[in-house]
Amino acid sequence: MKLGRLMKFKEKFYEELSSTNDFALENLSDFDDRTIIYADVQTNGHGRFDREWVSDNSENLYASIVLKPEIESDENSVLSNLTQYLCVKLAETLEKYGMRSSIKWPNDVLVNGKKIAGILAQANVSGSKFSGVVLGIGVNINMTQEELNLINQPATSLKVELQKTIDKKEFSRNLFEAFFEEYDEFLSKGFALIKKRYCERCDFISKEISIKNFDESRNGIAEKINDDGSLEVTFASGSETIRIGDLLWNY
Ligand code: BTN
Repeated sequence: MKLGRLMKFKEKFYEELSSTNDFALENLSDFDDRTIIYADVQTNGHGRFDREWVSDNSENLYASIVLKPEIESDENSVLSNLTQYLCVKLAETLEKYGMRSSIKWPNDVLVNGKKIAGILAQANVSGSKFSGVVLGIGVNINMTQEELNLINQPATSLKVELQKTIDKKEFSRNLFEAFFEEYDEFLSKGFALIKKRYCERCDFISKEISIKNFDESRNGIAEKINDDGSLEVTFASGSETIRIGDLLWNY
C-alpha cells in the first residue's frame, strides 16, 4: 500500500507545453500547493537570464513544482534558497544512482564538470501579495552524446555518464519524494537545514572564479557560502557578497 507516498504531492502530466514554468505561472490559481507539472517536451523551455533550455527529448525530465507556502512577499530569502534546496536534493538523488555531483553556485548541478540539470524559480508577486512560486527543473536524463554536443555549453546526461538508459518516471519519483520529505522542515529552518550538504559539494570554494551578470564579468576568489546562501567573493577592490549572477570557473 503506497498511501504515504501518494499523499505528499499531486502530479499533472502533459505531452507538450511551451514551458512548464510559464504554464504553471499562467494558471497558478488552478493548481494546489505541492502540484508537479510535467511535460514530455517543451517548445519554449527557458532558463536563468532568459537562456534557451533545449527541451525536445521526451526521455528527459521537464517539470515545475507549484508551491504556495504561507509567507509574506518580503520573505524572499526562503524563496531564493528553495533553488539551493532543490539543488541539494538533486545532487543527493544523482549520488544514489552512483554519480558524484558538484554544485556551481547558486543552483547548477554538475557531473564531471558538465551541467546535467538546470533549475529556475519564478515567483508570482503582485504588490505585497505573494501567491506562489514555481520551481522548474530540467534534468538531462536520456540525452545522447550527439544531442548534448548541440548544446552551447558543456553538458552531460545520466545516460552518457552511466552508459545505460534510465527510467525517467522512477528518477522523477525518487527526486520529488526526496524533495517533499524535508520540505516542511526547510520552510521553517531555511538554508541552515542544507548549508552543510550544499557546501560539501561546492568544489569552487577557495578557487579563482569569475562572476558574470548579464554583460559584466569580474574575477575574484570564492571565499565561502554565507548563512543565507549568498556567495562571498574577494575581488581586487575588496570582499563582496554576491546574491545574483553566474559563476564561471575552470577545473
Ligand atoms: C538554467 O539552468 O538556466 C535553468 C533551466 C531550467 C529549465 C527548466 S525545464 C522545466 C522548467 N520549464 C522551463 O521553461 N524552465 C524550467
